[in-house]
Parts: sequence; C-alpha cells; structure tokens
Amino acid sequence: MANHLRRQNHHCSRLAAALVAAMLLISAAVPSAAKLSTGYYRKSCPRVEQIVADIVTNKQINSPTTAAGALRLFFHDCFVGGCDASVLVSTNAFNRAERDADINLSLPGDAFDAVVRAKTALELQCPGAVSCADILALATRDLVSMLGGPFYAVPLGRKDGLVSRAAAVEGNLPLTNMTVDTMAALFRRKGFTVQEMVTLAGAHTVGFSHCKEFAGRIFRRSSGGQGAFDPAMEPRFAQALQRACANYQKDATVSVFNDIMTPGKFDNIYYLNLKRGLGLLASDHALVADARTKPFVDLYAANQSAFFGDFSRAMVKLSLVGVKTGRNGEVRRRCDQFNNLST
Ligand code: HEM
Ligand SMILES: *[C@@H]1O[C@H](CO)[C@@H](O)[C@H](O)[C@H]1NC(C)=O
Ligand SMILES: *[C@@H]1O[C@H](CO)[C@@H](O)[C@H](O)[C@H]1NC(C)=O
Ligand SMILES: *[C@@H]1O[C@H](CO)[C@@H](O)[C@H](O)[C@H]1NC(C)=O
Repeated sequence: MANHLRRQNHHCSRLAAALVAAMLLISAAVPSAAKLSTGYYRKSCPRVEQIVADIVTNKQINSPTTAAGALRLFFHDCFVGGCDASVLVSTNAFNRAERDADINLSLPGDAFDAVVRAKTALELQCPGAVSCADILALATRDLVSMLGGPFYAVPLGRKDGLVSRAAAVEGNLPLTNMTVDTMAALFRRKGFTVQEMVTLAGAHTVGFSHCKEFAGRIFRRSSGGQGAFDPAMEPRFAQALQRACANYQKDATVSVFNDIMTPGKFDNIYYLNLKRGLGLLASDHALVADARTKPFVDLYAANQSAFFGDFSRAMVKLSLVGVKTGRNGEVRRRCDQFNNLST
C-alpha cells in the first residue's frame, strides 16, 4: 500500500514537473509581464527603490494629498492603454494627451510632482535607466503603505509608452453613474474579477471627491420641495454633504473626503461606511446594494487582513495591465515628454 502510494506520488511529481514546464512556456509566450522582475534594476540602478521611497516620503509629509492622488493617477494610467506613464505626458502642439481628457478632474499636481522629483533624482544616480512607469508603480506602493496600507513587492521593467491621447480615455475608466453590470464588464475587459473590482474600489478609503461627482445623490427635487437625498444615504451624512456642497456650482473646487471616518488612513473603514449608508459616490454605494458584490464588501468590512492581502495582489495585477517592454516603449528622459518630441 505504502509502495503504491509512493509510486503514485512519483507519478504526481513527474506530472507536476511537466505542468510547471508547460506553464513556463505559456508564460514565456506572454510578451510583457513575463519580463518584469523585482530585481530588474539590480545592476543598472541598485538604489532605485530607496531613492523613490525617500523622495515620495518627503513629498507626502509636505503635501498630504499626494498619496491619494498617486493612487488614482496610477489606476487611470493602467486602465487607459496600460501602466506606461502615458498619463504623465503633457499636451503639445502635435497631440492632446491623456491627462487633458475631461475625466481628469483633478488628477492632482502633487502626484505628478512626486514622480517628476523622483525621476530627477534617479537621472542623477543612474541616467536613462529607470522608466517613469516603474517610478509611478513604486511611488504608489510606497505612498499606500505610508498611509497605513499594505506593502507589496512591485515587479519592475516597464517601459514608458509612446502614445498618449485624450480621445483614448473615454470608455476605459469607470464613471460614478455606471451600474454594477457596466462596471464589472469594464473591469473584466481589463482582466479583473468582480471581487477584484470590489477590492480595488477600497482605494476610496483615502482621498476626496468633488461635489459634482455625487451632487445627483444629495440635491434631488422632491414633491415636498428641497432637501431630498438618496434614501440609501444615512440622513445626517446626506445633510452634512448638502451643507458642504451648497455652493458647488459657483465654486467647483469644493470637495469632500471619500471616507469621512478615517480620511487620511488606508484601512477597511470604507467598507464599513458602505454598510452604514456612508458611501459617498453612487458607484461606491452600488457595491453594497448589489447581491454579487455585497459579500465582498461584508468580507472586507469584517476582516482588514483579508482586504490588505487581496488589495496587495490586486495592485500587483493592476501594475501589470498592458505593460510595454522592449521596443514597444522607451525610458523617457522627462516623464512629461516623449523622447521624440514630434510624436
Ligand atoms: C470602481 C469604480 C470607480 C469609480 C466610479 C471611481 C470614481 C472616482 C471619482 C469620481 C473620484 C473623485 C475625483 C475627483 O472628484 O477629484 C475618485 C477618486 C479617487 N479614486 Fe476612484 N473610482 C473608481 C475606482 C477606483 C480605483 C480602482 C482606484 C485605485 C485603485 C481609485 C482610486 C481613487 C482615489 C485614490 C481617489 C481620490 C483621489 C484624490 O484624493 O486625489 N478609484 N474616484
Ligand atoms: C485636465 O484637463 C484640463 C482641460 O484640458 C487641463 O486644463 C488641465 O491642466 C488638466 N489637468 C491636469 C492635472 O493635467
Ligand atoms: C454618466 O455620466 C456621464 C458624464 O459624467 C454622461 O456622459 C453619461 O451620459 C451618464 N450616463 C448615464 C447612463 O446617465
Ligand atoms: C481574516 O483574513 C485572514 C487572511 O485571509 C485570515 O487568515 C483570517 O483567518 C481571517 N480572520 C477571520 C477572523 O476570519
């Protein structure tokens, strides 16, 4: 009997070896992500992670909105044509770039600035080596962990993209008025499951939104006159938002924390808020109202470790979306310009 088992085990390990070999072949056929590795700059820029961490830590201490800005910037970069720093390119005479699409709202200057500063420091230490796309991926990771979120290893070796067009943005980013169906279809197209969508939406545990993004929930005409809000909202929360946003049509800069309980902390309170009617955006609340997504909201509300573990994995996966390697990209000299200016 023991012998029999051992033989079977032996067979199993040969089968496993064959499977591993097959998987290696398959992953070799996947052009981009396979070439990334955490040790990519070991020879060309061994201190890259330390340099990025030093610069962005300093930036975050002086400008505390940097971290949330970087997280959103990174998401937008990756969902529009892949994680290739195309979102950092400025519009020029030849091209209206991604960052000038209408949806940019406030892709914040501080996050751009953090990447540019890290690039400047890296160009002094290891000229021409480190891509802006890798800097943005590392900076985002460092900033998330500075806010109390998880720390995860970031595979490196992304090249910077050669294309950045405002017209490419539409249809690739979620909007607050999308149904769960439409949002899930968008995330699926980018390679993410419904659960991973809920996990990544947990990024709204930090940062802020402008009133116009949720005005439709708090300024509703009712038969009784003013004051009506989305009945799914906790009443005192909705009323506080009505006061905060009373002037938003005159002053478009008014904005509100995404997570009113712990706005500057990366934690799982976002999910607890959703369960209590304290979700800010319609798309946030939709996650607790839909039977397909609610179980994941419940899971993360109850277990921050589960959220952090899943968030780390989902962020690494996000960081591999549409990555360019080899001749499909370049290492930009300046993050806001292609090396060849006429493209
Ligand atoms: C699920 C669908 C999503 C929708 C509909 C959505 C929509 C929005 C909107 C409308 C804002 C406010 C922008 C402003 O008014 O300035 C915002 C902010 C933000 N979003 Fe999302 N988002 C989604 C998913 C994500 C994901 C997956 C991430 C990152 C992994 C993310 C990260 C952020 C961050 C960090 C902020 C705050 C930005 C800041 O404070 O500067 N969002 N989002
Ligand atoms: C967003 O787009 C507007 C309109 O094109 C532009 O004026 C603004 O500078 C852009 N914001 C950023 C941060 O690039
Ligand atoms: C959602 O909002 C966008 C602009 O923010 C608008 O163009 C679109 O028509 C809206 N979609 C629905 C279904 O209301
Ligand atoms: C929370 O999630 C972690 C990670 O998935 C798991 O190890 C742990 O058992 C969970 N805790 C509870 C109380 O369910």
